[in-house]
Amino acid sequence: MSERGPAGPALSWQVCARCGKELPVSSPRSQCPACGGLLEVEHRPPALGPETTLREIFAARRGGSGPLDASGVWRFRELVLPDAREEDVVTYPEGNTPLLSRGAVSRWAGIESLLLKHEGMNPTGSFKDRGMTVGMTQARRVGARAVACASTGNTSASLAAYASTAGLPALVFVPAGQVALGKLAQTLAYGAKTLLVRGDFDACFALVREAAEKLNVYLLNSINPFRIEGQKTIVLETLEQLSFEPPDWIALPAGNLGNTSAFGKALREARELGLITRLPRLACIQAEGANPFARAFREGFTRPHRVKAETVATAIKIGDPASLDRAIAALRLTDGVVTDVTDEEILEAKAVVDASGAGCEPASAASVAGVRRLVAEGVIRPGQRVVAVLTGHILKDPGLLLRYHQETDPPPSRANRPIEIDANLSAVEEVLGASRP
Ligand code: F0G
Repeated sequence: MSERGPAGPALSWQVCARCGKELPVSSPRSQCPACGGLLEVEHRPPALGPETTLREIFAARRGGSGPLDASGVWRFRELVLPDAREEDVVTYPEGNTPLLSRGAVSRWAGIESLLLKHEGMNPTGSFKDRGMTVGMTQARRVGARAVACASTGNTSASLAAYASTAGLPALVFVPAGQVALGKLAQTLAYGAKTLLVRGDFDACFALVREAAEKLNVYLLNSINPFRIEGQKTIVLETLEQLSFEPPDWIALPAGNLGNTSAFGKALREARELGLITRLPRLACIQAEGANPFARAFREGFTRPHRVKAETVATAIKIGDPASLDRAIAALRLTDGVVTDVTDEEILEAKAVVDASGAGCEPASAASVAGVRRLVAEGVIRPGQRVVAVLTGHILKDPGLLLRYHQETDPPPSRANRPIEIDANLSAVEEVLGASRP
């Protein structure tokens, strides 16, 4: 019996993106049992009264005090997981992140109106919390005995925090010696069992998939379709902040391609539900040393690429992205583009974003560096409205910050060297004098 469709009882179900096989929403599988394809969650369109619109429902919940309405994920629940019961939901709350305007960043990127959607303002400092609240809720709903993920650091920090909130044991696999300090510290402190794998992210991911399958642990990487449902709200919330007048472009850093997939799905559904009538174009930005998606894009997606990844932006140091097919669909839907930027461009963009007061982690700065590159190439026009997503907080990677500002010799052009002084006023005066124009 199919659980799908208006005649059936289910509000949501899962469907294989490759072969179309349907599974109930309660299936804990991480991929299609028939063909191994990735799963997606589908929902019945919300039943609305003649006088009510989704926009009004979302707006009325904003700033609400109940646990669901207070979350920038769950206040969009009709599009996320409509049948979730409040007692099952694991939330901080998360989301409700600012859309910032910083003149210095706009000028550097060459855009008149560049807006920064700051996802680093989530409870564990990255956009991962938006997917994790839904993934952890689903883990509870399916009665998982433990949860696991492979990670470059942010997913593991988020999973560790939400697992502790839910009271579930957590197992994380991270590449030894390649995780930014803040992320590793968070993961340990929130209490996840943390495995430092001698290998890269791609090796961690292969291992966690096998472990989840054989050891009956619930997998919470972004191939998990419930994570994607949560991450869609980055787009929904941005559209809401723009009064549902879509920007011309949304730029985001791209690694394992879960977020690109989520953005595509959010935009498709927003249009289907009449929230918007026009789609923004997606601009996915990779690091030059970790650019399998950019390579595939340049060849018209005729074949997948796999690279040995190397970049200072460790969050997106991924050579074999898991959600490639879903991300290609998102690119085609939105007439999107993929480009890559050098580590030097990422570091310069980061220094500009940081010095503007907004601040972000290195991978996040790739989106701003990518906008500048696409403006220079004439792909984005300076007068267009662009939103760049800052995916993680400035404090995620303090090691890189200290190297850049304090240790690199000769100092990079935007380095802000600390000044050691004797403990007296004349030393302070001397510094002040030196910095006067
Ligand atoms: N930005 C940051 C800060 C990230 O942590 C990630 C991914 C991305 C961008 C790319 O998103 O993988 O959906 O394309 N971090 C994962 C992790 C891989 O384990 O934390 P994606």
